[in-house]
Amino acid sequence: MPTGSNYLAYSPEVETIAPDEHVTFDELSRTMQHITRHMATRYRHAYRPVHAKSHGVLIGTLDLIPDLPEPLAQGLFAKGGSHPVIMRFSTNPGDLLADNVSSPRGLALKVLNVDGPKVSNHDGNTTQDFVCINANAFTAPDPKGFLEQIKTFDKNLDTPEGVKHAVSVAARATNAVLKAVNLPSATLEGIGASATHILGESFSSVAPLRYGNYVAKIGFAPGSESLKELTGKSIDLSGDYNALEELIKQFFRHETAVWDVKVQLALAPEDPIVEEKEKDFPIEAANKKWPEDKSPWQTVARITVGPQDTYSDPRQLFVDERLSFSPWHALEAHRPLGGIMRSRLKAYEEAIKYRARRNERERVEPSNIEEIPA
Ligand code: HEM
Repeated sequence: MPTGSNYLAYSPEVETIAPDEHVTFDELSRTMQHITRHMATRYRHAYRPVHAKSHGVLIGTLDLIPDLPEPLAQGLFAKGGSHPVIMRFSTNPGDLLADNVSSPRGLALKVLNVDGPKVSNHDGNTTQDFVCINANAFTAPDPKGFLEQIKTFDKNLDTPEGVKHAVSVAARATNAVLKAVNLPSATLEGIGASATHILGESFSSVAPLRYGNYVAKIGFAPGSESLKELTGKSIDLSGDYNALEELIKQFFRHETAVWDVKVQLALAPEDPIVEEKEKDFPIEAANKKWPEDKSPWQTVARITVGPQDTYSDPRQLFVDERLSFSPWHALEAHRPLGGIMRSRLKAYEEAIKYRARRNERERVEPSNIEEIPA
């Protein structure tokens, strides 16, 4: 149980919107598109500007826990029931690197058959996405900070893969290597993450979202023993260009996985255990991990994925090329919050449109799980 009980109530005032922030959002979106175009000249095909490489595409079931206490029974999680889900595992870079260049991992989740009012850009759809990474805090506090990082990244897109590999291997031992090769660390942002099994990871939204009457971050953590035993497990990434794809495939040949879906509710500044107003549970600083001792993660649902082919050609093509994930594919009850989240509305939308146009693919927002190829 949480040690603080005064959860922050959602109202539009929980956000602080800078009057000129759209200028930064436009620049972020342009920079992302520049990355995609640059990569498209290399690959003759447009990929996502970040998280370009997928490793597994899973179909499963989200089982909501009925009769949760009121602060947890909100939005999608208000009542019990089940929903089909699609999960796309990826790694951070915008190029299709060998998996021995280890980097942070992404998990994009799409929940189907979701009723209820959506944010205006997602009106008329019946999906709710959660787009997460294997971290509890983002690399930048706000859109301006992220723009600086992504611009450096954009300028250094042609760093040879061999250098990225050398750095990722060495960085597993020490970050000092980033200086040793004389490259700005943001160039190699996300490179050098530990070489562990991707299915043992926990993922979170990093930035907050509306949680019905409250405000929360959402996360996905190994729930079954089959996943827990993979947490932190070192893996050999050297042998196979697509080692992560193989690991996921191998697992789901016979095994079943369960992820716990958890939320961390923000506490109101009035709560006596929130020491400094705004500082413990900020909405506008995505680089701040919220203190778990004051508001622990609480389980609200479970996702079960049974044995299946996690990377069949038709499924991979459909999900990488025609499907898209965005935090703004959302219920109004799960509206993304804070500057980093607001900046993602335009950036994702423009990236998705550009990819569809460049590759001549018809974009799909599924209303039935049968649309996803086996
Ligand atoms: C909370 C911080 C963030 C997280 C957790 C995150 C995570 C992710 C993940 C996992 C994907 C891959 C989605 C997929 O599988 O289709 C992705 C894609 C993307 N991200 Fe982010 N991201 C964050 C912030 C941002 C920001 C601040 C921007 C730019 C303003 C951005 C721009 C993009 C774009 C353009 C794509 C590709 C969209 C597409 O073409 O389908 N992200 N992100």
